[in-house]
Amino acid sequence: MGELCDHQEMRLINKVALITGAGSGIGRETALLFAKEGAKVVCVDLNEDAARAVAAECGGLAFKADVSSAADSEAMVAAAEKEYGKLNVIFNNAGISHADDDDAISTTEAVWDLTFAINVKGVFLGCKYGVPALRRAGGGSIINTASFVAILGAATPQLAYTASKGAVLSMSRELAAIHARENIRVNALCPGPLQTELLMKYLNTEEKKQRRLVHIPMGRFGQAKEIAYAALYLASDESSFVTGSEFLVDGGITAAYTTPL
Ligand SMILES: NC(=O)c1ccc[n+]([C@@H]2O[C@H](COP(=O)([O-])OP(=O)(O)OC[C@H]3O[C@@H](n4cnc5c(N)ncnc54)[C@H](O)[C@@H]3O)[C@@H](O)[C@H]2O)c1
Repeated sequence: MGELCDHQEMRLINKVALITGAGSGIGRETALLFAKEGAKVVCVDLNEDAARAVAAECGGLAFKADVSSAADSEAMVAAAEKEYGKLNVIFNNAGISHADDDDAISTTEAVWDLTFAINVKGVFLGCKYGVPALRRAGGGSIINTASFVAILGAATPQLAYTASKGAVLSMSRELAAIHARENIRVNALCPGPLQTELLMKYLNTEEKKQRRLVHIPMGRFGQAKEIAYAALYLASDESSFVTGSEFLVDGGITAAYTTPL
């Protein structure tokens, strides 16, 4: 344990990590950070160019996959094991927030189904094919990206997205319970609102930004890198007693009734 807690050491040395949605935002920052901490990183994204660019930056492997496809999900795990001989960490992070996702009346069935196919089925498939690989490696860590909206409702609706993140949170808890004695940890990482493309494309006016910022005690949006550091902790052996958690990294948003003036 002394060795594990020695911060002079790289924190993911000898680990192989697969990250979905690695081409942008949280996934990209996490791929770079994991590599810096000694991991071999498999950068998975639907956007092949983006996956390649990040893989080149972190010296990892690029893999094009649609996480909502069972065949692609199976293939990405196989590619990781083939390239690096094992898989220790899976970061099921790819997700979408659809522009036409709204309230129950306005959201179409197509938007609902697409959101669930990527955000929920994608996480399920990552675990379906990832858990056997972690078993083969003697255990490991699964991190599923949920969101603070799994815990808080909002009057600025994205019903399919919010419900999908609730599903990721409850799926992660159950998987944590199932695999707890196999040295496989499963945690849901719940970011608060971030200054990434995914959110900022909607918050394109000062008024829209302020409507959110008033609820955040820290009074600012988070950065993708701040989520990457949390993923690093959950991926590393430093979090060896952490499983089934809803790991909130949200600037205090879920803790506050009122915020500082
Ligand atoms: N940005 C936020 O404010 C915020 C807050 C809470 C949770 N999240 C969650 O964090 C995760 C990452 O978000 P981000 O802000 O980095 O987003 P992003 O849009 O910057 O990156 C998402 C990446 O996922 C990829 N992707 C999309 N669909 C895919 C698919 N079917 N298969 C494989 N790859 C696919 C995209 O090409 C993109 O590179 C998502 O699950 C998101 O819901 C984001």
